[in-house]
Amino acid sequence: MSQERSYRIAPSILSADFARLGEEVRAVIDAGADFIHFDVMDNHYVPNLTFGPMICQAVKPYCKKADGTPVPLDVHLMVEPVDELAASFAKAGADYITFHPEATRHVDRTIQLIRSLGCKPGLVFNPATPLNWLEHTLKQIDIVMLMSVNPGFGGQSFIEGTLSKLGYARSLIDVQLAMGGRPVLLEVDGGVKIDNIRQIAEAGADTFVAGSAIFGKPDYAAVVTQLRAELALAGSAAA
Ligand code: DX5
Ligand code: ZN
Repeated sequence: MSQERSYRIAPSILSADFARLGEEVRAVIDAGADFIHFDVMDNHYVPNLTFGPMICQAVKPYCKKADGTPVPLDVHLMVEPVDELAASFAKAGADYITFHPEATRHVDRTIQLIRSLGCKPGLVFNPATPLNWLEHTLKQIDIVMLMSVNPGFGGQSFIEGTLSKLGYARSLIDVQLAMGGRPVLLEVDGGVKIDNIRQIAEAGADTFVAGSAIFGKPDYAAVVTQLRAELALAGSAAA
């Protein structure tokens, strides 16, 4: 029997209108976003270049609901090396900071650095990156993110092999929780749409990055509502 799982939708601003970023963040939060996913690309670790800590700082004041409740900034670092930029984003207002373990020389030290700066650390796994890094890090992190596309661009198609990888990550997280360990979010990033989010949730994810599924559409609230409706159906198949 699958226990009741809470779900989070994290729109990726990579697909937003960069000329109106503050308005876009406010609009997608008004539409029901739980996190704001902030894709940092350095044109070194990935073949694309996006935005730095100053943009994060500029966006931060918009990251709150109408009643003032803060909306976490979920910063995804597709950068190499990691430490210096992780510190800059921590100072710029990041709440979660996830990074690719291959992109830093000392993974445990980078995790500790992010936590020491008051942020929640997490690891990001590319489609071909195995999860064995988690054997020595799962107790220290707050979020695991699986890439369901190869990082660098929005609008790509979901890689189906991610579903079984999600199941394995979910089992590791649930065992840790059952043994009284730290709860860990399981985020999926890339190619998440209305027509596959239910299947992805049933595979074990609880937090969903969605960029092109939301931004560019005429009615953000309608899309978020449809995504949530699909999530509400998840589990009925898995039960
Ligand atoms: C890709 C980014 C993803 C991407 C998701 O490197 O990490 O967050 O923006 O975009 P969609 O949802 O359009 O695949
Ligand atoms: Zn991302």
